[in-house]
Amino acid sequence: HALPRTVLRMQARRGDLQGRITVEASTGADLTGLFDEIRARGPLAATKVGHTTARHAVVREILTNDALVTTRPRYGAGILGKLAAWSARDITHPVQPPSLLVVEPPQHTRYRKLVTRVFTARAVEQLRERTQAIADELLDSLDPANPVDLIETYCGLLPVTVISEILGVPPEDRATVLALGGAAAPSLDLGLSWRVFRNVETTLSTFDAWLTRHLDALRANPGDNLLSRLITAREDGAGLTDRELKSTAGLVLAAGFETTVNLLGNGISLLTRNPAQLETLRSRPELWGNAVDEVLRVDPPVLMTGRMCSRDTTIAGIPVRPGQFVTAVLAAANRDPEVFADPHAFDVTRENARDHVSFGAGRHYCLGAQLARMEGEIGLRSIFERFPGLRPLPGAHRRPTRILRGFERLPTSLRS
Ligand code: HEM
Repeated sequence: HALPRTVLRMQARRGDLQGRITVEASTGADLTGLFDEIRARGPLAATKVGHTTARHAVVREILTNDALVTTRPRYGAGILGKLAAWSARDITHPVQPPSLLVVEPPQHTRYRKLVTRVFTARAVEQLRERTQAIADELLDSLDPANPVDLIETYCGLLPVTVISEILGVPPEDRATVLALGGAAAPSLDLGLSWRVFRNVETTLSTFDAWLTRHLDALRANPGDNLLSRLITAREDGAGLTDRELKSTAGLVLAAGFETTVNLLGNGISLLTRNPAQLETLRSRPELWGNAVDEVLRVDPPVLMTGRMCSRDTTIAGIPVRPGQFVTAVLAAANRDPEVFADPHAFDVTRENARDHVSFGAGRHYCLGAQLARMEGEIGLRSIFERFPGLRPLPGAHRRPTRILRGFERLPTSLRS
């Protein structure tokens, strides 16, 4: 469910909270004041299309309520929305069925169980060494004599290289997959322009064709990768369909492109702006894992998520009607003073940093949470250990995204 950009702007002008969140997010502005305003309006604040919340307990209630279901984005009403639905009907699309993100029980239950069998904590641990090697290789290629944009040279490359390993992409196809993933990635956000939309759809068709060939190759010649294991995974004798396999691969690729890059970028930005926190990490490196959760809490890569009400229900004791759209502002819930003391402070020693809702909650809880935490820890720790004098240069700016939140450019000096 996505409202067209013009409608959002009109609503924002009229002071509608839903419109204001998306419009203000896309400017890269600091949203703290807006979050406090939403929270002050009670557990569930009214919007033109339904409700929104900034409260931690209410976010969890929304994401675990069976009457509230995920919806596929429509890229706007009218002709663009119809075209999107039409063109996505046969190709692999990260946020169109049968993507895990937008299917519901009973399909979701069976599908998720199969995928979880392969995406285990052990499988993630086995990727740790390789992830470290990839981070080291990327850092080796940086020349400290010159200023660099760390999004382009590091944050954007580490996650996709790890995901290429997961998907068993052969080295000769890596550049193709990287380009396809980058071009398709905007499909996870709202309010695409016509030009971006067309580009995304073309890219997704090309990606779909590549995936068909790639799955055939893995079937004939399975490798030591998660996608090969997913092909053979069975639950009560049944496996994933071809479309489900392709969809999972596509979603995993898109998630790697669009979220973990933000975790790394947001982390580098927060840590360089808070040198005292970096000092703490230098003397107590065992805190790096906790620091990653604190980055996720303070500047989450996914700002919010939404659900459509499918039947009468209540949230925080307030009636919600079928057809109403409810947004859970994850970034705001992470600043709830009921849960986090001094919520706006960035504190790598915070004891309950892990209680953030940046990976969602309930049945759609992020499948890649452990992988993202592992990549975040290795990615951030390695760069700050290699370049202790790392400091931001002017020109950093956020991407104009509405749901996702991260940097487009992070010009940096690596010299001490
Ligand atoms: C779902 C965040 C990295 C795969 C989600 C959701 C959130 C999220 C908030 C739930 C959305 C909703 O309920 O509407 C993040 C963040 C990441 C990250 C902040 C990085 C810091 C990853 C990675 C993967 C991944 C690396 C790849 C393995 C998925 C999948 C789902 C999902 C497959 C859908 C699960 C389902 O619907 O059952 N993620 N994600 N994510 N994430 Fe992540």
